[in-house]
Amino acid sequence: MGIRNRFACVFLSFSLFLFFLMVPSESATDTITQSQPMSIAQTLISSGQVFELGFFTPGNSSNLYIGIWYKNIPARRVLWVLNRENPIPASDNASSLTIGSDGNLRLLDGKRNTVWSTNVSVPSNKTIAVLSDNGDFVLEDNATGWISWESFKYPSDTFLSGMMIGFNNNTGEKRFLSSWKTDDNPSPSKYVLGLTQDAPPQVIFWNDSKPTWIGGPWDGWKFIGIPDRGQGYSNGLNVIQDTQQQSVFLSFNMYNTSGVTIIVVTPEGIVKTMVWVEQTKSWYVNWVAPANPCDVYGYCGPNGVCNKNGSSICQCLKGFVPNSIEDWRNGNWTGGCVRRTELLCQMNVTSLASGKAKNDGFLKLSGLKLPDHFVYMYNQDSSGCQQWCLSNCSCVAYAIVTGIGCMVWVGSLLDIQQFAIVDGDDLFLRLAYADLGENHERKKVIIVVSITTISVLLLFGVFLFSLCRWWRCNHRVKRSSKVKSSALITTRDTSQDSIWGNHATHLELSELPMIDFDKILVATDNFSGANKLGEGGFGPVYKGKLEDGQKVAVKRLSSHSGQGAEEFKNEIILISKLRHRNLVRLLGCCIEGDEKLLVYEYLTNRSLDTFLFDAEKREQLDWAKRFHIIQGIARGLLYLHRDSCLRVIHRDLKASNILLDDNMNPKISDFGLARTFQLTQELANTHRVMGTFGYMSPEYAMEGLFSEKSDVFSFGVLLLEIVNGTRSTSLHHYDEKHHNLLGYAWQMWNESRSLDLVDEALADSCSHSEVVKCIHIGLLCVQDHATDRPTMSTVVLMLSSEMEIPLPKQPAFTIQSLLDSDLRSQCNNICSTNGDIISTIEGR
Ligand SMILES: *[C@@H]1O[C@H](CO)[C@@H](O)[C@H](O)[C@H]1NC(C)=O
Ligand SMILES: *[C@@H]1O[C@H](CO)[C@@H](O)[C@H](O)[C@H]1NC(C)=O
Ligand SMILES: *[C@@H]1O[C@H](CO)[C@@H](O)[C@H](O)[C@H]1NC(C)=O
Ligand SMILES: *[C@@H]1O[C@H](CO)[C@@H](O)[C@H](O)[C@H]1NC(C)=O
Ligand SMILES: *[C@@H]1O[C@H](CO)[C@@H](O)[C@H](O)[C@H]1NC(C)=O
Ligand SMILES: *[C@@H]1O[C@H](CO)[C@@H](O)[C@H](O)[C@H]1NC(C)=O
Ligand SMILES: *[C@@H]1O[C@H](CO)[C@@H](O)[C@H](O)[C@H]1NC(C)=O
Ligand SMILES: *[C@@H]1O[C@H](CO)[C@@H](O)[C@H](O)[C@H]1NC(C)=O
Ligand SMILES: *[C@@H]1O[C@H](CO)[C@@H](O)[C@H](O)[C@H]1NC(C)=O
Ligand SMILES: *[C@@H]1O[C@H](CO)[C@@H](O)[C@H](O)[C@H]1NC(C)=O
Ligand SMILES: *[C@@H]1O[C@H](CO)[C@@H](O)[C@H](O)[C@H]1NC(C)=O
Ligand SMILES: *[C@@H]1O[C@H](CO)[C@@H](O)[C@H](O)[C@H]1NC(C)=O
Repeated sequence: MGIRNRFACVFLSFSLFLFFLMVPSESATDTITQSQPMSIAQTLISSGQVFELGFFTPGNSSNLYIGIWYKNIPARRVLWVLNRENPIPASDNASSLTIGSDGNLRLLDGKRNTVWSTNVSVPSNKTIAVLSDNGDFVLEDNATGWISWESFKYPSDTFLSGMMIGFNNNTGEKRFLSSWKTDDNPSPSKYVLGLTQDAPPQVIFWNDSKPTWIGGPWDGWKFIGIPDRGQGYSNGLNVIQDTQQQSVFLSFNMYNTSGVTIIVVTPEGIVKTMVWVEQTKSWYVNWVAPANPCDVYGYCGPNGVCNKNGSSICQCLKGFVPNSIEDWRNGNWTGGCVRRTELLCQMNVTSLASGKAKNDGFLKLSGLKLPDHFVYMYNQDSSGCQQWCLSNCSCVAYAIVTGIGCMVWVGSLLDIQQFAIVDGDDLFLRLAYADLGENHERKKVIIVVSITTISVLLLFGVFLFSLCRWWRCNHRVKRSSKVKSSALITTRDTSQDSIWGNHATHLELSELPMIDFDKILVATDNFSGANKLGEGGFGPVYKGKLEDGQKVAVKRLSSHSGQGAEEFKNEIILISKLRHRNLVRLLGCCIEGDEKLLVYEYLTNRSLDTFLFDAEKREQLDWAKRFHIIQGIARGLLYLHRDSCLRVIHRDLKASNILLDDNMNPKISDFGLARTFQLTQELANTHRVMGTFGYMSPEYAMEGLFSEKSDVFSFGVLLLEIVNGTRSTSLHHYDEKHHNLLGYAWQMWNESRSLDLVDEALADSCSHSEVVKCIHIGLLCVQDHATDRPTMSTVVLMLSSEMEIPLPKQPAFTIQSLLDSDLRSQCNNICSTNGDIISTIEGR
């Protein structure tokens, strides 16, 4: 479903196309009122000329329906049908759509009988029905704007940007996509797309209430049963869970809601994603499911594995044999496979006594679409997961999936598919000792050998490292910074190439535009002071406006990065491939002489600290927004840490590095830069600690050790700041005993007074359970020992589910203790000590 990038240009041209067609026609209206019904000859047109609503007769049908379609897409494709099950005969040319005296929207036939009605209770009779520019047809109160009914709540066969499908247990609401019966008949058919009630939810396509394709559980980014090679992160899908409402919805949002991408279920029983291509004036089908027999639910029967490239499409799992060899030979796979050797724990006492019993084990199978009917174990780590599976005799397999956690299976394994290794997940299959085979033995040996090798190498590395540090610390040798980091980069890149296939093709390389220095000079008015937005970790940032009017933020990197232009460019191109809705988009770069400039998207709401730490503006951040921001940052960070091609540790996560867009969506900035600078010798040479005090983990501040867990620490501090609304370092705020936020937070939490920590500005807007959870997670993240801190994937999981959260240990590390330590003496010459914040030191 990785579609957005490739079609950015299509969107663009489409928008242009819309633009030229925006000539208002005189009679067009977007509203139905009591006095102004819509007759057969009329249509409604949304105010931006995007959507049109009117009567239509599909194909060879002899019935009349009311539908919504794109006004400017020639081959009319009906996206939504109002009276799917209540058609009007096509001969009835006196029908109309109107608002009844009770305020409901009604479809009347020629004899003024109500054929269809919204049938909701409407608070007043001043309602109007409006076709909006996102394709939603709403019945609203003209005076208050209260919406009593909207078409988005009753999807037909098309998922438009802005819609959601799913369910709400509290209200009993269920939203699905259901296809038309035939091309002539829009009434709902047996093909239905929706979410399952599992935790985590799966996307599923039913044929007559039997699953026909399943996309697997949502891991926070994607459905794991849909291979997407890491491109799908921006495909606009998201699962939104609300545990209080007991609701789960799948939302679909293209960034630019011009709505030229749609997801459709067809009368043939297929789900597809379609993109309107203006050049060819046709719909391009981007993705289809089921695409091949393997996608069909349970195609190979229980314990069978489907491999579309295999010599035989269905095979039994290792250690299993066909249930009926005859059927299997005839290509009738429905019977599936059965275990060859009974598991030890399932044997009865007599057979146990007779045999030389050896324990069952697990066989790792890689690159699979994991089977259906999993049981999700909330609070198990990988060893716990295996333990649980071993100790429960009905457990036949387990898997640990990033973003989800421990999944276990009991009973038979259905709907397994072999994917390419990068696309699938690992399944640990429980097998009797005899079926583990010699492979198992050999593997053990290999593992032992490799563990020994790795340990030796590690020890050697540690030794070298210590030697280097000793050398550096004793001889502050100023080496030339133009070192051969290029070698390092090139080897890395090729290894990535081989792992990631042609991930770094020229096509992608050319995606990042190089922008002329002159143009940037013009855009930023010669880097005028008036345009300066601030000073980031690696240099000043200026606001600018490119020739085409696009607003951008330009970061002028401090010149002494010590990196060659070519390597720098390569690195930036790699970074530009990191795309996520919670990361600031890199639009281009410029390298000219000593100048190295990065051009980012401009975000109107600037950075989080300008809101959070401002007496007045903080009021605008109610709890819902703050929680949204916290989740966004967590997701962005998880993406950085996890994205396999470029694991990035941010190293300077703080409120001022979180930017906010129009809708207060958080976007992490300055990511990846730490990486380009790290590749140079600068950091190592000067032994400078980069980052911002107050957000720095103890092991980083004191020993210069950084890992993903140092980012987790910063995240924890940031989280507490967001809840509390003060800087972690603003000493004055707290009493004598507490020199900083962490100590204060710990005490409040320990005394079960967590709510005292909450920003007064939040007043009553907050959900107590969420706040307490956030503080709890925050404290887990700021624990002194890196190993005690959760990973970002656990954090994301904890934030979005009701899993049990372990108890944090007291954070002993404080700014004060740091300043008291001998680091202070080391620090004297390089740290500015004018304020409580000793800001980014590196790279200036
Ligand atoms: C996004 O939509 C706006 C109008 O809604 C349009 O002006 C802009 O050009 C669009 N951008 C892209 C990249 O399609
Ligand atoms: C309409 O009928 C014609 C002739 O019977 C047929 O060729 C065409 O495919 C039909 N169209 C649809 C949409 O069923
Ligand atoms: C409606 O149909 C009748 C006969 O079927 C015809 O006389 C009349 O002109 C039609 N009116 C419109 C508005 O098409
Ligand atoms: C709307 O309601 C008011 C009082 O509730 C009534 O007087 C008025 O006639 C109603 N208007 C219509 C168009 O039904
Ligand atoms: C309107 O809704 C009520 C209950 O909400 C239901 O009893 C009634 O049958 C509905 N009427 C129509 C025409 O759907
Ligand atoms: C809706 O409200 C506007 C402004 O109050 C008014 O001009 C318009 O006539 C109203 N429309 C209807 C149908 O009541
Ligand atoms: C909704 O209810 C069903 C059945 O009552 C339950 O299985 C499911 O977990 C619930 N979903 C949520 C999100 O609470
Ligand atoms: C849906 O189910 C029916 C009956 O089981 C079957 O005939 C039909 O082929 C199925 N459709 C698809 C698309 O698999
Ligand atoms: C396939 O095998 C099952 C039993 O395993 C049997 O019930 C079914 O009829 C067979 N289907 C065909 C098409 O032979
Ligand atoms: C125990 O195992 C023996 C031989 O495998 C078998 O004949 C017997 O039916 C089993 N008993 C039970 C209770 O499963
Ligand atoms: C094993 O797991 C299943 C499924 O969760 C559960 O129903 C059963 O009680 C467990 N058995 C034991 C012995 O724990
Ligand atoms: C199947 O073959 C295609 C083309 O050779 C390859 O891209 C894909 O990864 C293969 N799939 C599996 C599961 O091996």
